[in-house]
Amino acid sequence: MKNRLELRAITRSFEDGGTARVILDKLDFKAAEGELVAVIGPSGSGKSTFLSVAGALLEPSSGEVLLDGEPINRMGKQELADVRLRKLGFIFQSANLIPYLKVEEQLRLVANLAGVSKTKAAERARELLDQMGLSHRRTAYPEKLSGGERQRVAIARALMNDPSVLFADEPTASLDAARGLDIVQMLARQVKERNKSAVMVTHDERVLAWCDRVYVLENGKLIEQ
Ligand SMILES: Nc1ncnc2c1ncn2[C@@H]1O[C@H](COP(=O)(O)OP(=O)(O)O)[C@@H](O)[C@H]1O
Ligand SMILES: [Mg+2]
Repeated sequence: MKNRLELRAITRSFEDGGTARVILDKLDFKAAEGELVAVIGPSGSGKSTFLSVAGALLEPSSGEVLLDGEPINRMGKQELADVRLRKLGFIFQSANLIPYLKVEEQLRLVANLAGVSKTKAAERARELLDQMGLSHRRTAYPEKLSGGERQRVAIARALMNDPSVLFADEPTASLDAARGLDIVQMLARQVKERNKSAVMVTHDERVLAWCDRVYVLENGKLIEQ
């Protein structure tokens, strides 16, 4: 199986009153195609930092991030922005939808930014919304949606540009147990059917059954369970 995402000896520290506090400590990680990998750990252990480095939102202090075998650390700003838009998809704790856009417009916007044709974007949006059980919500504004529906839109949006890797930071944190399970099941299904990789950081131990592998982030390192 091909590795879509690989982190090699990643270290990241933050300045803390004049001293550097190490959050990620020579950490290694791999996610192959078709895999949904979970990372758990207590609050403050560095999960969001890990996800931000893996998703090229934050530079590591040292180490390498490879996306489809390509090191992203040496890319320029513009190239990196392009990679983020086309090859990576992000899902956060709250869906972060744009309040004045209808559901289908949220999806078409990201396709538009990536230069996908209007026809193709409309077609993809329709397909993804169908798969997420949201066809009847196509023309709704975010304020009319439930929390679970918003997260489903966020997943669809993250998939719009057909990325290699999906990143989800506590995607179930704002949902009740049943809705949380729904969301992770849908994410898992998309990962399998479309042969994506996904990395999900979570507090929510109930959803781990849907993940292929589980890591614990502890003292700056990932330990596979
Ligand atoms: N930009 C930053 N500047 C300084 N410290 C940070 C920054 N981001 C995170 N930290 C610190 O790094 C630690 C890990 O944070 P985070 O990755 O958000 O953990 P988690 O997501 O597991 O709760 C925390 O102690 C946090 O205060
Ligand atoms: Mg966090």
